[in-house]
Amino acid sequence: MDQSSTKPRIAVYPGSFDPITNGHLDILKRSKYLFDEIIIAVNDNPSKEFLFTVKERVKLIRKVLKDCPGIEVESFQGLLVHYAEKKGAGFIIRGLRALSDFEHEFQMDLMNRKLNSKIETVYFMTNQRYSYLSSSIIKEITKLGGSTQDLIPDLVREKLLEKLKV
Ligand code: PNS
Repeated sequence: MDQSSTKPRIAVYPGSFDPITNGHLDILKRSKYLFDEIIIAVNDNPSKEFLFTVKERVKLIRKVLKDCPGIEVESFQGLLVHYAEKKGAGFIIRGLRALSDFEHEFQMDLMNRKLNSKIETVYFMTNQRYSYLSSSIIKEITKLGGSTQDLIPDLVREKLLEKLKV
């Protein structure tokens, strides 16, 4: 591992973000203390079904984060480590909510490390406030008419209601 302190610390924060939640934003806010530049990398995986298209997800995050210096939003296809290499990123940011997240994250970590041992994944424990939060549960609650107050930005709620026609 060569994470020289003189190089800008660039990190990639990857995910589906379908849609972005306050849990993601909390991790982003805390990550900002550690990195010079953060690239939110929205996964464009044609074999996975998303509610929002990749373009919509990127656009929505950009709007939510407007006026946030040091944060870029892009989409990526293929392997995350290849994307991180292309962007010159030495770090991957991931959030951990519960023990149930661990197994999958551990597997991804080991595989990503095998593919590129120079890229380090950094984990943030969820803020307790958002420990039960996921994009899937937000979609379900919205669809069924429940309140998502304080869990997603207002703009995301607007777009969700529009998309789900509720
Ligand atoms: O928000 P998610 O759905 O938990 O994010 C998962 C994501 C996008 C980070 C993961 O599926 C990913 O990195 N996909 C890209 C393909 C890849 O690199 N796979 C190898 C990791 S083991």
